Amino acid sequence: MTAGQAPDPLLRVSDLIVEYGHGRRAHRALHGVDLDIAAGECVGLVGESGSGKSTLGKAVLGLAPASAGTIAFDGEDITRASRRRRRALAQDIQVVFQDPYGSLNPHLSVGEILAEPLTAGGIAVAEARTRVADMLDRVRLDPSTADRYPSEFSGGQRQRIAIARALVRRPRLIVCDEPVSALDLTTQDVVLDLLLDLQRETGVAYLFVSHDLGVVRRICHRVAVMRRGEIIEIGDGDQITRDPVHPYSQRLRLASPVADPVEQRRRREAWLALREVPDVYSAG
Ligand SMILES: Nc1ncnc2c1ncn2[C@@H]1O[C@H](COP(=O)(O)OP(=O)(O)OP(=O)(O)O)[C@@H](O)[C@H]1O
Ligand SMILES: [Mg+2]
Repeated sequence: MTAGQAPDPLLRVSDLIVEYGHGRRAHRALHGVDLDIAAGECVGLVGESGSGKSTLGKAVLGLAPASAGTIAFDGEDITRASRRRRRALAQDIQVVFQDPYGSLNPHLSVGEILAEPLTAGGIAVAEARTRVADMLDRVRLDPSTADRYPSEFSGGQRQRIAIARALVRRPRLIVCDEPVSALDLTTQDVVLDLLLDLQRETGVAYLFVSHDLGVVRRICHRVAVMRRGEIIEIGDGDQITRDPVHPYSQRLRLASPVADPVEQRRRREAWLALREVPDVYSAG
C-alpha cells in the first residue's frame, strides 16, 4: 500500500447486476450496486420489501447469479468462484437467516450442528468439542445445550444457536438477513446486544439486512438505503436513521414504528404528506 491509498476493504461490491430468470421472463433485481465493507465494520442494508436487500446478501454468499460487476473478498474476485472455492470461502463468509428453525437441521443435536463444520474442515473431535463449548458460552447458552435438539428451544435461543453456528468457524464476514425480525422486542434486544459484543470480541464484519431502521441504528456503523435494486443513499448510521437526505429514506424512517403514540401519529401524518412527493413511493 502506498501513502494516500486506502487499504483494500474486506468486501468490495462493484457495479453489481443480478438478474433472475432468462429472456422475456428475466427480472433485474440489482441495477449496478457498489458497496464496501471494512474489516470489523457493520453495514446496514435497509429498504422496502422487494428492493433487493436479500438479493445483495445472497450474491455475496454466491447464492444469486451475478450477470455483471464484481464481488471481491479480501482482494480476491469471488464473483464466479467455483463450488469448491465457495465451500472453502464458507470458512470466512457465513450467514444468519431470519428463520432459525428452517436453517437448523432438526435431526442433529446442537453440539453436532456446531461441531460438524469444524470436523468436516479437518479439526480434531476433541478440539471441536472445546470450541463448541466456548461458542455456546459466548452466545450465553448453557453447555448442556449441546445435547439437545433445535425443537427444544425458543425462537430467541434458536437464533443464538444459529449465530453460534455462523461464528464457530471464526469467519470474517457474516451476512445477517433480518436476524431479529421473527423475535419479540425483548428477545431482539438480547440478540442485538450479543451481535455487538461478538463483533467487539472477534472483529467480525456484518452485512446486516433489515427493514427496521431502529434495529439498524443500534448496531450499524454505516447504513445503505436500497430502492428498486439500487443504493440511493449511504452514510453514517446515525445520520441516515435520524436525518436522511433522500425523500425515500425519509419515508422509510417515518414508517418505522416508535413506542410513543403522539410521535407515532406525527410520523404517520408526515409519512402521508411525503407520499405526495413525486417518484418517492415505490410500488415494490
Ligand atoms: N429467486 C428469485 N427468482 C425471481 N425473482 C426473485 C427471486 N428472489 C427475489 N426475486 C425478486 O427480486 C426482487 C428483490 O427481491 P429481494 O428478496 O432481494 O428483496 P428484499 O429487499 O430482500 O425484500 P424483503 O424485505 O421483502 O425481504 C423482488 O422483486 C423479488 O420478487
Ligand atoms: Mg429479504
